[in-house]
Amino acid sequence: MPASPRCFVIGHPVAHSRSPLIHGGWIAEHSLSGSYERIDVAPADLPTFMARLRSGELTGGNVTVPHKEAVMPLLDQIGEAARAIGAVNTLWREGDRLCGDNTDAAGFLSHLDACVPHWDARTDAALVIGAGGAARAVCHGLRLRGLSRIIVVNRSQGRADDLAQAFGAPLEVRRWTDLPDLVGEAGLIVNTTSLGMKGQPPLDLDLAALRPGTIVDDIVYVPLKTALLEEAQRRGGIPVDGLGMLLHQAVPGFARWFGVTPAVTPALRARLEADILGH
Ligand code: ATR
Repeated sequence: MPASPRCFVIGHPVAHSRSPLIHGGWIAEHSLSGSYERIDVAPADLPTFMARLRSGELTGGNVTVPHKEAVMPLLDQIGEAARAIGAVNTLWREGDRLCGDNTDAAGFLSHLDACVPHWDARTDAALVIGAGGAARAVCHGLRLRGLSRIIVVNRSQGRADDLAQAFGAPLEVRRWTDLPDLVGEAGLIVNTTSLGMKGQPPLDLDLAALRPGTIVDDIVYVPLKTALLEEAQRRGGIPVDGLGMLLHQAVPGFARWFGVTPAVTPALRARLEADILGH
């Protein structure tokens, strides 16, 4: 491990990334020497950037849109989660080997564990709304916890079918129009779509059939409390917001680059909340 790790998040654009706020907070909290910066890398420049990482000039970092899949053929080693999810969000070096993995599923699970201890022991079926990259991470996490039913619903059903085919049992696909009925079948409902995000229409989900105590997890974190979470809470559900997943997914990368496992503290969360509210 270098005395002063140089870490990064690459994306295009990357100015919106809140990762520097998270990692910068941990560097300061632990009085570490090192840095974490945003680097805008255009798709055509990705191979050159990866050569810089291989050379040892940089220690490791995060990968965001549009590079999460494109980076995979440029790596020497890909972790099991990234292979299952089909995308990489964390990079590091082992000697001159470039390695990558995906920490989104672990982040999703850690946050749920923190909010609702033992949720998996009392959750029979999960309802996952969406079938994009975030849905793949969530489904991977739910499979790891051994849920007996994972129901996937997506506006474009073909994408849900592809996801269920890639993962196999216990995923099953149902129709978008079945959503109001499915709400009553699940102990955990996860919105992985961008609906409800600032600037997007809300996820118009009828929660009339929601069972009290059902966990409703929205991976959207701008706004912090989406209309879906407000409604779930009104109906006796347990709301879980998306900011915790963002914070927890950052932990394994930081631990690799800096050799210190950081904590997701209320103070760190408050800093992120203030940043979100300020925009
Ligand atoms: P990510 O990698 O963040 O999951 P993505 O792959 O673009 O992003 O997936 C976005 C998800 O939001 C998809 O499930 C998408 O549904 P489609 O596959 O039908 O496009 C869903 N989504 C986005 N806008 C939507 C809308 N207006 N109504 C319903 N679903 C929507």
